[in-house]
Amino acid sequence: MPKINHYPGHMAKTKRLIKERIKQVDIVFELVDARAPFSTTNPALSSFISNTPKLILLNKADLADKKILEQFEQRFHDLGMHTLAIDARKGVNVNKIQTIARHICQEKFLKEESRGMKPRALRALIVGIPNVGKSTLINRLVNKRATKVGDTPGITRHLQMIRINKDFELLDTPGILWPNLDDDTVALNLALLGTIKDSLIPKDDVAIHGIGILKSRYKQSFEKRYDLTVEQADTPVDLFDKIGKRRGAYTQGAGINYERVIDLFLYDVRHQAFGNIALETVDDTHVQL
Ligand code: G4P
Repeated sequence: MPKINHYPGHMAKTKRLIKERIKQVDIVFELVDARAPFSTTNPALSSFISNTPKLILLNKADLADKKILEQFEQRFHDLGMHTLAIDARKGVNVNKIQTIARHICQEKFLKEESRGMKPRALRALIVGIPNVGKSTLINRLVNKRATKVGDTPGITRHLQMIRINKDFELLDTPGILWPNLDDDTVALNLALLGTIKDSLIPKDDVAIHGIGILKSRYKQSFEKRYDLTVEQADTPVDLFDKIGKRRGAYTQGAGINYERVIDLFLYDVRHQAFGNIALETVDDTHVQL
């Protein structure tokens, strides 16, 4: 697959900005997509947040395969990492963030107290690759539609803290990270989620990758969605053919209109047509934590 590098200038700038901001906070909240926590993390992050504690927020948990999500949480836990599964859109578990963050930073605050320092608010920075829900979470925490929701990588404003309550403050501008696009599977997963533009990776590769996941893990949902039967020996193209015939993307003489089939399949993956899914499992070792 062609290598994609559409973040070059952005990477250096982000790194610098986060390094600056990290000095002003007690903890970093890294948002990842609960359907693909490895693919939506930034493996380089730990190298530039140094010793600042991190809480991994597995966002969009409402869209994720619950069983696999639990396995991910266990894996992160085994690695000594802190996680919380949330749904920033509806606000599920968002009220637990402050308590968990306080707990993680407990030692630092106790130390400050023992040195006679006044109690103060915990300060946090939200980071994550585009589209994981950073703005949605900030809005949810702030409890008003103050931050524009939408995909706006590269937008920077003057650094400001938002006061959530007397014990909790948030840097108002999230750190926008870049994903690890050197890894083909990561790039395909991100394209499936709609994080990477369709023009960057051939759509048929993305759809073939997605069909593979659906066939191996969510066969029944797939069959039900298109009212068809999946045979073990079916190749992705066989399945595109079956979808095409079911969905009227087939004409006598011209055959299957693959472009249409692929578009509708990708639309379905991105709009939860197969229920709660995981694009990767804990056994996918293509991404190092
Ligand atoms: P970003 O700042 O990290 O780039 O992400 P942003 O908050 O803009 O969210 C990207 C998309 O993900 C938005 O959808 C947002 O509503 C959705 N989203 C965020 N958190 C959750 C969640 O926990 N569950 C679900 N299901 N969706 C979530 P959009 O369609 O781009 O915008 P909108 O139509 O919701 O405004």
